[in-house]
Amino acid sequence: MTQQETAGAPATGWWTEAVIYQIYPRSFADSDGDGIGDLPGITARLDHLAELGVDAVWLSPFYPSPQADAGYDVADYRDVDPLFGRLGDADKMIAEAKARGLRVIVDLVPNHTSSAHRWFQAALAAAPGSPERQRYVFRDGKGPQGAAPPNDWQSVFGGPAWTRVPDGQWYLHLFDTGQPDLNWDSPEVRAEFLDILRFWLDRGVDGFRVDVAHGLIKQADLADWQEPHEILSGQEVDKPRPPMWDQDGVHEIYREWRRLLDSYGGERILVAEAWVEPAERLAHYVRPDEMHQAFNFEYLLAAWTAPAQYAVITRSLEATDAVGAPTTWVLSNHDVVRHASRLALPIGAPRPNGIGIGDPQPDAALGLRRARAASLLMLALPGSAYLYQGEELGLPEHTTLPDEARQDPTWERSGHTERGRDGCRVPIPWEADAPSYGFGPTDASWLPQPPSWAEYALDRQRGVPGSTYELYRTALRLRREHGLARGPLEWLSTGDEVIAFRNGGLTVLTNFGQAAVSAPAGEVVQSSAPLDEDGRVPTDVTVWVRA
Ligand code: NOJ
Ligand code: MG
Repeated sequence: MTQQETAGAPATGWWTEAVIYQIYPRSFADSDGDGIGDLPGITARLDHLAELGVDAVWLSPFYPSPQADAGYDVADYRDVDPLFGRLGDADKMIAEAKARGLRVIVDLVPNHTSSAHRWFQAALAAAPGSPERQRYVFRDGKGPQGAAPPNDWQSVFGGPAWTRVPDGQWYLHLFDTGQPDLNWDSPEVRAEFLDILRFWLDRGVDGFRVDVAHGLIKQADLADWQEPHEILSGQEVDKPRPPMWDQDGVHEIYREWRRLLDSYGGERILVAEAWVEPAERLAHYVRPDEMHQAFNFEYLLAAWTAPAQYAVITRSLEATDAVGAPTTWVLSNHDVVRHASRLALPIGAPRPNGIGIGDPQPDAALGLRRARAASLLMLALPGSAYLYQGEELGLPEHTTLPDEARQDPTWERSGHTERGRDGCRVPIPWEADAPSYGFGPTDASWLPQPPSWAEYALDRQRGVPGSTYELYRTALRLRREHGLARGPLEWLSTGDEVIAFRNGGLTVLTNFGQAAVSAPAGEVVQSSAPLDEDGRVPTDVTVWVRA
């Protein structure tokens, strides 16, 4: 049997059952009143996360960066951007999290650096063909004077994926011009990232979320690809894979990283951000000697219908079981419309890249109702779950952000056709009556907060029965008590309107249909909304019942 065919024994370790909370540092808590969240702000709010009952946090990048893509353009992988604090603040945050029993995962961005990175500056200063240029993907252009880009690839954010430098060569950037792609055939690049991993492992982090994990290796001939270049390739098994995504060569990189992490002990983990379909292909990233987890974006994207949810849950479990990895579940992150708004959009409509003024506005009440049902369904599934800051408050997308305030490069690069991701990145509300809703000590907020957010503030929900915050807390407690993360899941109903399963001594039922349905027999321990007067489960409600 080859390595690829080996089914692993089921993995054990903290991550297999963990609920991991994503902190988007710019928008979590601001300690100094400059309107940008920072590391001391996070440290001061860690008690909230301990009280909520999560196991770990994952922080989006806080490294020195020109912020061309909100920090996913890293200029120095071994330091902290002054916007967010200093290296000592990172050490303090890690120590304080650990003191509360929270593990810490940091973001690693290996597909590209910032154009301000010393390596890219050296590449610009050096000649075509130089070792400095070998660390990136520089090519001559096509056509007369090489004036046309080397191939037809488009940036994920819109526009060409190539930018020309003064001496006439072009460099590849699958994202913004400020994010040149690294050349992962370069031994120097490989050695550098092993060293960056060591730097953060030595500082005590429990793992890395690996950005664009499916992008590091490009097809060697950089062949043209006449298709849209969305990050989600949405591949059918029998169709050719895009030349920039999910190339087989990425896996040996992760095997090498895995050996390094294992040499540290302490159960450090790698989590793949890989927009790869189908689930079987994604499962390659979590084979026993590679990464520990991969985000399940197929789940995030699944339609809010009983058949679609049943299908994605079974497919996800089967695909990861086959390699012995835990399944993961996620509904929101800093790149997609928050699920409290997304789930109110017409079912089956294409996923929008942001919502803005003039767009059809999602129904907030319907969105919240479905979001609560979806979250209770997700938290009852075996495996590990990822939460995105603010979802525990039922926070919607900011869907009327003034376009002038937008900062996601998508908005400019797409020629104002795609609004982009700012609406899910707005600083979160802590206190209803404080300036910036308690995000920081002043009114300042790098993206404006909507006037309607007081009702979502933590202090309006804490201790309030039925609030979304208390729903999450109870769900996380019961999830732990009943060992729901361990499974196994046993299906009871997989109809057109309802799905129901048994897990950990609970019966979990979600009603997607138009009419109320009977609740499973037993004691209702959790419900995403009140049952009706006859004790039936209404539309868009999930119940947990102890039989
Ligand atoms: C995925 C990150 O989640 C996203 O925010 C970023 O823009 C791209 N990778 C590029 O780094
Ligand atoms: Mg600040």
